Amino acid sequence: MNLDLFDDAAPQPARSESIGPRSVVLRGYALPAADALLQSLDEVIRQSPFRRMETPGGHLMSVALSNCGRLGWTTDRDGYRYTPVDPLSDQPWPGMPPAFAALGREAAAAAGFAGFEPDACLLNRYEPGARMSLHQDRNERDFSAPIVSVSLGMPAMFLFGGLARSDPAARVPLFHGDVVVWGGADRLRFHGVLPLKDRPHPRLGSLRLNLTLRKAG
Ligand code: SIN
Ligand code: FE2
Repeated sequence: MNLDLFDDAAPQPARSESIGPRSVVLRGYALPAADALLQSLDEVIRQSPFRRMETPGGHLMSVALSNCGRLGWTTDRDGYRYTPVDPLSDQPWPGMPPAFAALGREAAAAAGFAGFEPDACLLNRYEPGARMSLHQDRNERDFSAPIVSVSLGMPAMFLFGGLARSDPAARVPLFHGDVVVWGGADRLRFHGVLPLKDRPHPRLGSLRLNLTLRKAG
Protein backbone atom coordinates (compact mmCIF):
# COMPACT_ATOMS: atom_id res chain seq x y z
CA MET A 1 0.00 0.00 0.00
CA ASN A 2 1.32 3.41 -0.99
CA LEU A 3 0.87 5.69 2.01
CA ASP A 4 1.56 8.78 -0.08
CA LEU A 5 -1.58 8.58 -2.22
CA PHE A 6 -4.10 10.53 -0.15
CA ASP A 7 -5.30 12.77 -2.97
CA ASP A 8 -8.98 12.00 -2.55
CA ALA A 9 -9.02 12.14 1.27
CA ALA A 10 -11.84 14.30 2.63
CA PRO A 11 -10.91 17.79 3.85
CA GLN A 12 -9.88 17.64 7.50
CA PRO A 13 -10.13 20.13 10.35
CA ALA A 14 -6.96 21.78 11.69
CA ARG A 15 -4.54 19.60 13.65
CA SER A 16 -5.75 16.53 11.86
CA GLU A 17 -3.21 14.39 10.06
CA SER A 18 -4.29 11.95 7.40
CA ILE A 19 -2.61 8.56 7.72
CA GLY A 20 -4.82 6.79 5.18
CA PRO A 21 -7.81 7.39 2.90
CA ARG A 22 -10.20 6.97 5.86
CA SER A 23 -7.72 7.28 8.75
CA VAL A 24 -6.71 10.35 10.72
CA VAL A 25 -4.80 11.40 13.81
CA LEU A 26 -6.70 14.19 15.59
CA ARG A 27 -3.87 15.86 17.49
CA GLY A 28 -4.79 16.89 21.02
CA TYR A 29 -8.46 16.21 20.37
CA ALA A 30 -9.01 14.61 23.81
CA LEU A 31 -7.10 17.24 25.82
CA PRO A 32 -10.17 19.24 26.89
CA ALA A 33 -11.82 16.00 28.09
CA ALA A 34 -8.72 14.42 29.64
CA ASP A 35 -9.62 15.13 33.29
CA ALA A 36 -13.15 13.79 32.86
CA LEU A 37 -11.85 10.73 30.99
CA LEU A 38 -9.29 9.91 33.70
CA GLN A 39 -11.83 10.32 36.48
CA SER A 40 -14.29 8.00 34.73
CA LEU A 41 -11.47 5.57 34.03
CA ASP A 42 -10.64 5.43 37.77
CA GLU A 43 -14.24 4.48 38.51
CA VAL A 44 -14.26 1.79 35.83
CA ILE A 45 -11.00 0.32 37.09
CA ARG A 46 -12.25 0.15 40.67
CA GLN A 47 -14.97 -2.20 39.43
CA SER A 48 -13.00 -4.06 36.74
CA PRO A 49 -9.26 -3.72 37.44
CA PHE A 50 -6.54 -3.88 34.82
CA ARG A 51 -5.23 -7.42 34.41
CA ARG A 52 -2.83 -9.16 32.07
CA MET A 53 -4.56 -11.66 29.82
CA GLU A 54 -3.31 -14.78 28.09
CA THR A 55 -3.38 -15.16 24.31
CA PRO A 56 -4.81 -18.31 22.71
CA GLY A 57 -1.18 -19.32 22.13
CA GLY A 58 -0.45 -19.17 25.86
CA HIS A 59 1.53 -15.91 25.97
CA LEU A 60 0.88 -13.39 28.73
CA MET A 61 0.23 -10.00 27.11
CA SER A 62 2.59 -7.23 28.24
CA VAL A 63 -0.28 -4.71 28.14
CA ALA A 64 -2.83 -4.93 30.98
CA LEU A 65 -6.48 -4.72 29.87
CA SER A 66 -9.93 -3.93 31.14
CA ASN A 67 -13.21 -2.88 29.51
CA CYS A 68 -16.35 -0.90 29.92
CA GLY A 69 -19.58 -0.79 27.96
CA ARG A 70 -22.11 -3.47 27.10
CA LEU A 71 -19.40 -5.75 25.71
CA GLY A 72 -15.77 -6.24 26.65
CA TRP A 73 -12.93 -7.76 24.65
CA THR A 74 -11.11 -10.64 26.31
CA THR A 75 -8.58 -13.28 25.44
CA ASP A 76 -7.64 -16.57 27.05
CA ARG A 77 -6.61 -20.06 25.96
CA ASP A 78 -9.99 -20.46 24.23
CA GLY A 79 -9.51 -17.46 21.92
CA TYR A 80 -10.37 -13.79 21.42
CA ARG A 81 -13.96 -12.68 21.93
CA TYR A 82 -16.38 -10.15 23.32
CA THR A 83 -18.28 -11.00 26.49
CA PRO A 84 -21.01 -9.10 28.39
CA VAL A 85 -19.45 -10.23 31.68
CA ASP A 86 -16.03 -9.57 33.23
CA PRO A 87 -14.49 -13.04 33.71
CA LEU A 88 -12.69 -11.77 36.86
CA SER A 89 -15.83 -10.76 38.70
CA ASP A 90 -18.56 -12.67 36.82
CA GLN A 91 -20.42 -9.35 36.78
CA PRO A 92 -21.30 -7.20 33.75
CA TRP A 93 -18.49 -4.87 32.67
CA PRO A 94 -18.85 -1.33 34.09
CA GLY A 95 -21.16 0.85 32.01
CA MET A 96 -19.78 3.12 29.31
CA PRO A 97 -19.08 6.49 30.96
CA PRO A 98 -20.94 9.28 29.13
CA ALA A 99 -17.63 11.14 28.66
CA PHE A 100 -16.21 8.13 26.76
CA ALA A 101 -19.25 7.77 24.51
CA ALA A 102 -19.35 11.50 23.77
CA LEU A 103 -15.68 11.66 22.86
CA GLY A 104 -16.04 8.60 20.62
CA ARG A 105 -19.07 10.02 18.85
CA GLU A 106 -17.51 13.45 18.34
CA ALA A 107 -14.09 12.24 17.23
CA ALA A 108 -15.68 9.81 14.77
CA ALA A 109 -17.84 12.60 13.33
CA ALA A 110 -14.78 14.88 13.06
CA ALA A 111 -13.10 12.11 11.05
CA GLY A 112 -16.08 11.73 8.71
CA PHE A 113 -17.95 8.90 10.45
CA ALA A 114 -21.27 10.39 11.56
CA GLY A 115 -23.59 8.32 13.74
CA PHE A 116 -20.96 6.26 15.58
CA GLU A 117 -22.34 4.90 18.88
CA PRO A 118 -19.71 2.82 20.70
CA ASP A 119 -20.96 -0.09 22.81
CA ALA A 120 -17.53 -1.34 23.88
CA CYS A 121 -14.40 0.34 25.18
CA LEU A 122 -11.18 -1.60 25.59
CA LEU A 123 -8.79 -0.06 28.12
CA ASN A 124 -5.10 -0.75 27.61
CA ARG A 125 -2.45 0.06 30.23
CA TYR A 126 1.17 0.17 29.08
CA GLU A 127 4.16 0.24 31.41
CA PRO A 128 7.69 0.82 30.04
CA GLY A 129 8.60 -2.08 27.75
CA ALA A 130 4.98 -3.08 27.07
CA ARG A 131 4.03 -3.46 23.41
CA MET A 132 1.16 -4.48 21.17
CA SER A 133 2.11 -6.63 18.22
CA LEU A 134 0.60 -6.00 14.79
CA HIS A 135 -3.03 -7.13 14.64
CA GLN A 136 -6.38 -6.31 13.08
CA ASP A 137 -9.46 -5.39 15.14
CA ARG A 138 -11.76 -8.05 13.74
CA ASN A 139 -13.81 -9.56 16.56
CA GLU A 140 -16.60 -7.01 16.06
CA ARG A 141 -19.84 -8.12 14.46
CA ASP A 142 -19.66 -5.75 11.50
CA PHE A 143 -16.96 -3.51 10.20
CA SER A 144 -19.06 -0.56 9.08
CA ALA A 145 -18.32 1.38 12.29
CA PRO A 146 -14.87 2.96 12.75
CA ILE A 147 -12.34 2.44 15.53
CA VAL A 148 -11.65 5.42 17.80
CA SER A 149 -8.41 5.14 19.78
CA VAL A 150 -7.50 7.67 22.50
CA SER A 151 -3.97 8.06 23.87
CA LEU A 152 -3.26 9.32 27.40
CA GLY A 153 -0.01 9.57 29.36
CA MET A 154 3.41 8.62 27.99
CA PRO A 155 4.07 8.92 24.26
CA ALA A 156 4.10 5.81 22.09
CA MET A 157 5.12 4.85 18.59
CA PHE A 158 2.00 3.55 16.84
CA LEU A 159 2.46 1.27 13.84
CA PHE A 160 -0.13 1.66 11.12
CA GLY A 161 0.16 -0.97 8.44
CA GLY A 162 -1.97 -2.10 5.53
CA LEU A 163 -4.61 -4.74 4.96
CA ALA A 164 -2.01 -7.52 4.76
CA ARG A 165 0.26 -8.34 7.69
CA SER A 166 3.30 -8.07 5.43
CA ASP A 167 2.46 -4.53 4.20
CA PRO A 168 4.89 -1.85 5.39
CA ALA A 169 3.75 -0.04 8.52
CA ALA A 170 4.00 3.71 9.01
CA ARG A 171 5.38 4.89 12.36
CA VAL A 172 3.08 7.46 13.94
CA PRO A 173 4.14 9.03 17.26
CA LEU A 174 1.14 9.43 19.57
CA PHE A 175 0.97 11.81 22.54
CA HIS A 176 -1.30 12.53 25.49
CA GLY A 177 -4.65 13.64 24.09
CA ASP A 178 -4.22 12.38 20.53
CA VAL A 179 -7.08 10.43 18.96
CA VAL A 180 -6.71 8.08 15.99
CA VAL A 181 -9.78 7.17 13.94
CA TRP A 182 -9.85 4.59 11.16
CA GLY A 183 -12.77 3.01 9.33
CA GLY A 184 -14.34 2.36 5.96
CA ALA A 185 -11.81 0.93 3.53
CA ASP A 186 -9.16 1.24 6.30
CA ARG A 187 -11.17 -0.55 8.99
CA LEU A 188 -9.12 -3.76 8.90
CA ARG A 189 -5.67 -2.26 8.68
CA PHE A 190 -3.01 -3.91 10.80
CA HIS A 191 -1.75 -1.81 13.70
CA GLY A 192 0.34 -2.11 16.84
CA VAL A 193 2.54 -0.26 19.31
CA LEU A 194 6.34 -0.47 19.65
CA PRO A 195 7.79 -1.28 23.09
CA LEU A 196 7.15 1.75 25.27
CA LYS A 197 10.09 3.89 26.33
CA ASP A 198 10.11 5.28 29.85
CA ARG A 199 9.37 8.97 29.36
CA PRO A 200 7.32 9.81 32.43
CA HIS A 201 4.26 11.95 31.86
CA PRO A 202 3.62 14.90 34.26
CA ARG A 203 0.14 13.64 35.11
CA LEU A 204 0.37 9.85 34.72
CA GLY A 205 4.01 9.08 35.44
CA SER A 206 5.48 6.00 33.75
CA LEU A 207 2.19 4.88 32.23
CA ARG A 208 0.37 5.07 28.94
CA LEU A 209 -3.36 4.48 28.82
CA ASN A 210 -5.27 3.80 25.62
CA LEU A 211 -9.05 3.78 25.22
CA THR A 212 -10.30 1.95 22.15
CA LEU A 213 -13.94 2.72 21.41
CA ARG A 214 -15.79 0.33 19.14
CA LYS A 215 -19.15 -0.84 18.00
CA ALA A 216 -18.75 -4.52 18.80
CA GLY A 217 -22.28 -5.94 18.88
C1 SIN B 1 -4.95 -1.54 20.33
O1 SIN B 1 -4.84 -1.69 19.13
O2 SIN B 1 -5.71 -2.23 21.02
C2 SIN B 1 -4.14 -0.51 21.08
C3 SIN B 1 -3.58 0.60 20.26
C4 SIN B 1 -2.89 1.61 21.14
O3 SIN B 1 -2.57 1.32 22.30
O4 SIN B 1 -2.63 2.74 20.67
FE1 FE2 C 1 -6.26 -2.84 17.97
